Amino acid sequence: MKISCFPKYRIGRLLGMIQILLGGLVIIVSISSLFRFYSAGFFMHNEDICKQFYGVKDVYEGFDVMSLSARVDEVLDKMLKLQENLESKVQQMEKIKDLVNNTVSMLDYKKFIEEDVIHPLYGAHIALRQLRLPRVENGTTNEDPLINTFVTEEIRKYITPKETRVGNKNIYGSQKIFNTIGHGCVSMKKELEEYMDYDIGSFCKDDWNVAQNLMINGCDPLPRRRCLTRASKLYQKPYPINESLWRIPDGRNVRWSNYRCRNFECLSIKNPKRGYSKCTGCFEMEKEKLKWVTNTSLLTDFLIKDALAVKPGEIRIGLDFGIGTGTFAARMQEHNVTIVSTALNLGAPFNEMIALRGLIPLYITLNQRLPFFDNTMDLIHTTGFMDGWIDLQLMDFILFDWDRILRPGGLLWIDRFFCNRKDLDDYMYMFLQFRYKKHKWAISPKSKDEVFLSALLEKPPRSL
Ligand SMILES: *[C@@H]1O[C@H](CO)[C@@H](O)[C@H](O)[C@H]1NC(C)=O
Ligand SMILES: *[C@@H]1O[C@H](CO)[C@@H](O)[C@H](O)[C@H]1NC(C)=O
Ligand SMILES: *[C@@H]1O[C@H](CO)[C@@H](O)[C@H](O)[C@H]1NC(C)=O
Ligand SMILES: *[C@@H]1O[C@H](CO)[C@@H](O)[C@H](O)[C@H]1NC(C)=O
Ligand SMILES: *[C@@H]1O[C@H](CO)[C@@H](O)[C@H](O)[C@H]1NC(C)=O
Repeated sequence: MKISCFPKYRIGRLLGMIQILLGGLVIIVSISSLFRFYSAGFFMHNEDICKQFYGVKDVYEGFDVMSLSARVDEVLDKMLKLQENLESKVQQMEKIKDLVNNTVSMLDYKKFIEEDVIHPLYGAHIALRQLRLPRVENGTTNEDPLINTFVTEEIRKYITPKETRVGNKNIYGSQKIFNTIGHGCVSMKKELEEYMDYDIGSFCKDDWNVAQNLMINGCDPLPRRRCLTRASKLYQKPYPINESLWRIPDGRNVRWSNYRCRNFECLSIKNPKRGYSKCTGCFEMEKEKLKWVTNTSLLTDFLIKDALAVKPGEIRIGLDFGIGTGTFAARMQEHNVTIVSTALNLGAPFNEMIALRGLIPLYITLNQRLPFFDNTMDLIHTTGFMDGWIDLQLMDFILFDWDRILRPGGLLWIDRFFCNRKDLDDYMYMFLQFRYKKHKWAISPKSKDEVFLSALLEKPPRSL
């Protein structure tokens, strides 16, 4: 009996000791987490620091303390459950000791430690580590998403949803306005904080290139800023519309400091140090003037008048998705068609150029859904942008988005899309999957391995 009793007794004592150990461990983990919390500045009760973080004290009291205490409660809850569980287990074992001659096998013992001790302890530990993040509520998010990821006051102010001042519904009929930033901003925290570091109301840094870099790398849309954007020293009035369309603009109307070139002449294709590599001939008006109006030897070069002849008088508004200086839009304007041209300033002032020509640049990356409503555009023209480099899945999402904004009967003009000959089938499938009506379809060789594909397709009616 003595021998049989001994292991059980030992197990009870062991569990007791484990409990004490775990208690100690938990205290250490809590202290270290809280220390981290403290070092991030979240525990300072200094009024100034609260102001720096939250600007408005209500926000501090209404939101973050709640989030913090909710997390602490969660952890305390878990700890309490663990303790109760362990205690009841010990009592259970004491009872068994008196009744049955039962030795706990090593396997049961291991299982018990794993399931009843380590798992809950791990849960509590993780919960403590996440003290700095707001707890994700089930279904309704009481906390502002990701707000605690950022420390810079201006970012926190920006992404805090803004309640209406009068009544409980705003102009959209919703309760709050949610300023959004791309979730990619979280991985570019340092750059974003640098971008948002300014004195409210004073001049911004000359950092559009920092902003564009953020956008391209996924921090898109970017937050608005409350600083004054810089302009060129002596902004000249633009040329009148009868001249501006086909004339290189006044270089003084561009801020050149973040480009390699300092004037429009320098952007010439002949200059090897022009600082950009996409659409290299686009700043040469003599060459631009030939596009879409003169016959070339390439089958894949369609003319604007032929494309418009497919739907006479029906094409009035459209989107030119690509990289360029707005020449397509300029030509279409001559046909009384309004075209919005997408443009990024990739090494050259494409946006400024388009605007100075009197056309509409749309400053947008590939990251986003297009800011047009469903079934609204008469035409989408694309050239020089979506080429063989593009991931097929990305392209699929983009093409479906185009399909969304194109109206029934609208035209999709794929202009000199090029890719490797061996990839042609994949891309052809991409374009043909929508079962658009083919008005024009041409393939011609670009080089030994590459081919051009051009197509003029019409979106069919969708009466569903
Ligand atoms: C308790 O265990 C011992 C040795 O393992 C055995 O001799 C004894 O019969 C057991 N008693 C009961 C009640 O099972
Ligand atoms: C969370 O929501 C799901 C489904 O809405 C529900 O089944 C679950 O019980 C909820 N959990 C908590 C902790 O409320
Ligand atoms: C452009 O229009 C203005 C007046 O509207 C005129 O004075 C000017 O000569 C025109 N320029 C050209 C190049 O036709
Ligand atoms: C282009 O070629 C077509 C026939 O190939 C011809 O009818 C047309 O006049 C040409 N246009 C120009 C601007 O040369
Ligand atoms: C464009 O509109 C103007 C004014 O309404 C008209 O005079 C001109 O003929 C139109 N151009 C074309 C190509 O339809």
